[in-house]
Amino acid sequence: MVTILNHPLITHKLTQMRKKDTKTKDFKQNLDEIAGLMAYEVCRDLPLKPVTVQTPVAECQTYELLNEIVLIPILRAGLGLVNGINDLIPTAKVGFIGLYRDEETLVPHEYFAKFPSNLKDAINLVLDPMLATGGSAIAAIDMIKKRGAKSIKLVCLVGAPEGVKAVEKAHPDVDIYLAALDDHLNEKGYIVPGLGDAGDRIFGTK
Ligand code: PRP
Ligand code: URA
Repeated sequence: MVTILNHPLITHKLTQMRKKDTKTKDFKQNLDEIAGLMAYEVCRDLPLKPVTVQTPVAECQTYELLNEIVLIPILRAGLGLVNGINDLIPTAKVGFIGLYRDEETLVPHEYFAKFPSNLKDAINLVLDPMLATGGSAIAAIDMIKKRGAKSIKLVCLVGAPEGVKAVEKAHPDVDIYLAALDDHLNEKGYIVPGLGDAGDRIFGTK
């Protein structure tokens, strides 16, 4: 299932990120803010468990999150989504997947992986601002499924229809969340209109 998070604040901030003249500092700040807003929506259906707590006044029957949350950014650009979500879910654990996309073949290559121990019982949020061909997201989800992950949500900023289709085909059990679904991929595998190379814009490498 794909959910496009149509919210005026998300759209406004994403527009600032799309502008080619937006500099690293503002690009990152808008990304942080969007990540927090997206987290709120992505976590809307998280399961709760009943608990009884003692308030200063009386006993209170209430609820807490049932599962641990694990954030799994796809390096590099996925790192840009971590802080904004972590601010809302400070107890989240963080795993890392290092993938880079070969510029010619567009095939993702793994260079790093490090995860917290219990992916099996956690709600795993795979983070990457860009869902282009879908190759990186599919490889990342393959990796965490091999390590036992069952409940997985893919959180991206901008998606191309090609990438959404590919992830849905490879991993129909994974819910996809986007701030925007763009038009198409160009011949270099960039999302159109997109926002350019997210990693370079976050880390100021170009
Ligand atoms: C970008 C982006 C995604 C991937 C999307 O990363 O952050 O991970 O490309 O493309 P795909 O859907 O076609 O796989 P890139 O490989 O450029 O690495 P970087 O984040 O280190 O810049
Ligand atoms: N990766 C990016 O950073 N941008 C795109 O448009 C496609 C892949």
